[in-house]
Amino acid sequence: MTTARSPAPVPDFLYGTAWKEDRTVALTELALRMGFRAIDTANQRRHYVEAGVGEGLAAAYRAGVVTRADLFLQTKFTYQRGQDHRLPFDPSAPLATQVAQSMASSLEHLGTDYVDSYVLHGPASGYDWTDDDAEVWAAMVKERDAGRARLLGVSNVSFEHLEQMAATGAEAPAFVQNRCFARFGWDRDVRAFCHDRRIVYQGFSLLTANPEVLRHPLLARIAARAGATPAQVVFRFALAVGMLPLTGTTNAEHMKQDLASRDLSISADEVGAIESLAG
Ligand SMILES: NC(=O)c1ccc[n+]([C@@H]2O[C@H](COP(=O)([O-])OP(=O)(O)OC[C@H]3O[C@@H](n4cnc5c(N)ncnc54)[C@H](OP(=O)(O)O)[C@@H]3O)[C@@H](O)[C@H]2O)c1
Repeated sequence: MTTARSPAPVPDFLYGTAWKEDRTVALTELALRMGFRAIDTANQRRHYVEAGVGEGLAAAYRAGVVTRADLFLQTKFTYQRGQDHRLPFDPSAPLATQVAQSMASSLEHLGTDYVDSYVLHGPASGYDWTDDDAEVWAAMVKERDAGRARLLGVSNVSFEHLEQMAATGAEAPAFVQNRCFARFGWDRDVRAFCHDRRIVYQGFSLLTANPEVLRHPLLARIAARAGATPAQVVFRFALAVGMLPLTGTTNAEHMKQDLASRDLSISADEVGAIESLAG
């Protein structure tokens, strides 16, 4: 028997809610009806309607599709520089206060008293793990320790960010969420860092960042052999190399196909060939 406090385990697929604007409510509910149990969002109104995600969840709860305990909910803290004017915190407050305010607002948007994962949307600098990041991360750890998040993550990070973060003695993240380019060996260095430390690598833009892969004859061959689409093969590959993939599809058939990719059979040779395809 599940209770509100026996949280969903780490999922094998995330449904992403970016760029859906006024379709956010309906698409969140649809994704749950189609079988997704893990939702990614952010308290960043510029790209996400987190309150709409909460409305979609509420609709699914009312319809008896899922309960809160069935779900893995992930949201993010986004620095002011990644936001537009619709801020979920007082920008003149210290960063630690901004984190607390953003988290309180996320919980209100999502109609819950905890998230399963809380992610730093991106470090303050494209190059270094800065003192600001250290302050924000410490505030996120405090949120987690207070029970408002189960697990923590970082996003849009390089290998160097992760090394510098580790060198500060900071607690390691449970998740790294990155855009995954095949031409960089599918983010090989960051994935290796994660693998060595049992950090779960979440890959986004697996389709949109890699059009050359989707068009490649190798993918066409594997897809024909598996009775699947090239997009499904990319997701199956991602799972096979240990990624937790995200999809932001707005299409019910694609939702089904993306989840069904988990059941495709793919050989170790095929995984190796895709992994070395473009970098
Ligand atoms: N941390 C960050 O900074 C960050 C940045 C970007 C995204 N994200 C997260 O990642 C999520 C996903 O973003 P994304 O960039 O991976 O995806 P996305 O931009 O939402 O786009 C997915 C694309 O793939 C297509 N697609 C999906 N499944 C398909 C299938 N089976 N066959 C053919 N086409 C298919 C979709 O088209 P249809 O809609 O027609 O299916 C859409 O064009 C976002 O919603 C967000 O939650 C995070």
